Amino acid sequence: MNLQAKWIKTEQTCGEMSPEFRKTFRRKGDVTRATITVSAMGVYNLFLNGEKVGNAVLAPYWTSYSHRVQEQVYDVTDLLRENNTVGILLGKGWALGRIGYSGRKYANGHFVSDNLSLIACICIEYSDGSKEIIATDDSWEVWTSVILASDIYDGETVDHTAEVQCLGSAVLDLGDRPEIIPQQGEYVTEQERIAPCEIITTPKGERVLDFGQNLAGYVEVKICGKRGDRIVMTHAEVLDKDGNFYTENLRSAKNCNIYILSGEGEEIFKPSFSFQGFRYIRLDEFPEDAELSEENFTAVAIYSDMKRTGDFSCGNDKINQLYSNIIWGQRGNFIDVPTDCPQRDERLGWTGDAEVFCRTAAINYDVEKFFTKWLSDMALEQSPEGGIWEIVPCRGSAGSRIATGWGDAAVICPWEIYRAYGDKDLLRKNFEMMKKWIGYMHGFGEDEFLFVGGRHYGDWLAMDAGYGVYEGATQTDLIASAFFAYSTSLVIRAGKILGEDMAEFEALYANVRKAFRAAFMKDGFPCIYPKGDAFSTNRPVKGLTQTSIVLVLRFGLYEEEERQGLVDKLAELISENDGRMTTGFLGTPHILHVLSQNGRSDLAYDLLFQEKAPSWLFSVNQGATTIWEHWDSLREDGTFWSTAMNSFNHYAYGAVFDWIFGVALGIQVEEDGAGYEKITVTPLADQRMGFAKGSIESRHGRIESYWRYLPDGRVRYEITVPPSTQATICLPDQPPVSLCGGRYVKIV
Ligand code: BGC
Repeated sequence: MNLQAKWIKTEQTCGEMSPEFRKTFRRKGDVTRATITVSAMGVYNLFLNGEKVGNAVLAPYWTSYSHRVQEQVYDVTDLLRENNTVGILLGKGWALGRIGYSGRKYANGHFVSDNLSLIACICIEYSDGSKEIIATDDSWEVWTSVILASDIYDGETVDHTAEVQCLGSAVLDLGDRPEIIPQQGEYVTEQERIAPCEIITTPKGERVLDFGQNLAGYVEVKICGKRGDRIVMTHAEVLDKDGNFYTENLRSAKNCNIYILSGEGEEIFKPSFSFQGFRYIRLDEFPEDAELSEENFTAVAIYSDMKRTGDFSCGNDKINQLYSNIIWGQRGNFIDVPTDCPQRDERLGWTGDAEVFCRTAAINYDVEKFFTKWLSDMALEQSPEGGIWEIVPCRGSAGSRIATGWGDAAVICPWEIYRAYGDKDLLRKNFEMMKKWIGYMHGFGEDEFLFVGGRHYGDWLAMDAGYGVYEGATQTDLIASAFFAYSTSLVIRAGKILGEDMAEFEALYANVRKAFRAAFMKDGFPCIYPKGDAFSTNRPVKGLTQTSIVLVLRFGLYEEEERQGLVDKLAELISENDGRMTTGFLGTPHILHVLSQNGRSDLAYDLLFQEKAPSWLFSVNQGATTIWEHWDSLREDGTFWSTAMNSFNHYAYGAVFDWIFGVALGIQVEEDGAGYEKITVTPLADQRMGFAKGSIESRHGRIESYWRYLPDGRVRYEITVPPSTQATICLPDQPPVSLCGGRYVKIV
């Protein structure tokens, strides 16, 4: 940002209304280049001569505002006229709006700022070599606008009849303002546009539009009507069992947009500073004499403008729907920050959710920039002891937790992003944060080499502790100590890649592993540590659970002679549960991997194809178009899990796609070949899938794995790799084959 630009604000409070800051100026000659650079506390829309500039939605986006805020630069060379007016509308967004769940705000009720403020600079270069700077200062005017109220959770009120008037001049904002940095993440922009598939009158007599797809964004309304006509629409993800509009799971988020018509020809409405998570809208008010037509409404998905890299299809329609749900889960929750959900009064950067989904995310889309930005905020907000908060950016105040599996995002996310894109600089930039998180666990509590006594979320939403218990039955201290070992092992691997001496961490790892085994393993199986789990005592804590075995196997905390017993026990627990999982957020991403790595691919596929809850296909059978928060968010009898916490767009369980991609298609990145420079392709065919075909547009080019069953029961494999990828192809009962560029076809 040019140093001449000053932070400015309105002199008078504008209440809920979005103020517009305006500046008029004359072009002084032939322009060779003109740019406008903008940042704000709040979110903004930039206009030049009445036209919106650029396609950014909700800029300057969401960073750790107490440290930094991004600026965006727009090239307006071709848009300048002789006389120009720049207008910048501000909304509350994440900096001032109602963000965070109840009771978790900073004392002033906002995360960072008490007032909206703007900083901007117009830079014009003329053909004679001169340069003109027009920067924000107290000469800019403040105008009222037609946006009477806006809030991310609650929606927006736009009144086209509102008189827009000048309130006077802006004043300098001399409050503490964060550092302004260049845009680091992806821009959030409008993406898919979807027409409604049905207009329904519900049993309650309400008019509801169904867009057929749960998504995050908003509905654009195009309408001709009379001055003062109102459209009031509320958004929801699901209908209840009677077919009525259901909003209780949105908790306090109103998700309601209100539009008031000017009556001047065709009018287009959409929110500027809010978004909703929805599949349905209810028309609470609609002009009586206007004809209600599907053509009036278009759902617009918004999310970070990431390049799509992955693709998948197979011969099983339900798995294809599951894949579509995973993709839409990512779209709806990658709005600048990886969030838990896009609809209720959270939409927060929960670290645990991102930790489990990160590998899948990096197959579906190019998320390197997206995670680079988020991880920078995470590092800035790391506690002096190395703790990583449950939410990044902008954790709430009192009561925030530093929890296992959530805090480990500090290690697992940089590691996975390195694995996907091979950028050592990213690993290097995050290395301090990664080590400090290990230091936090090491320094925590009395047991030096265990992570015991913390306030954890455990195997969040696991099904093995009965209804109403969120943490599941696995001892959270077992989980925490297992993650302590796993994250330490990843830091060692990362350090070696960076050429660091990791002797100290290797010694630590040996001690952590030993301590884990002494505390949590008995006769070859996970057990209860009597000194553990001080926090959640009001739940049935068990030593032997699917998740405890899964973590021991996945994180290498067993001795070889224990392995078969553990695998058999896991199979037994699954079978005792009628062939189904009981795992939650932390066990689920690993259970299929553990089975297929240990000779039970059959059982891994059985779980993938399971249709009774808890299973992935249960929600597909229930008509889901995104991944649900709970295995049984909507039960077979049509009732809902609960109103307290029941999102229908929560990507965490979508992490199963890294198994489908990495095991069913078999594409795995080798440790010394990050970024898909070196891969193994070991496809795992299953009749129920018929065929499976998937690809990734990697940094080295397109990699594809395709297999299909032939009528004679044999399988035809086809693997394609780009020239700079070195692949080792392992087909059943065949010697490994090396392939560097080209296609390999074999029938086995
Ligand atoms: C969120 C989760 C999050 C969790 C912490 C919930 O309210 O929606 O996805 O990770 O809290 O356990």
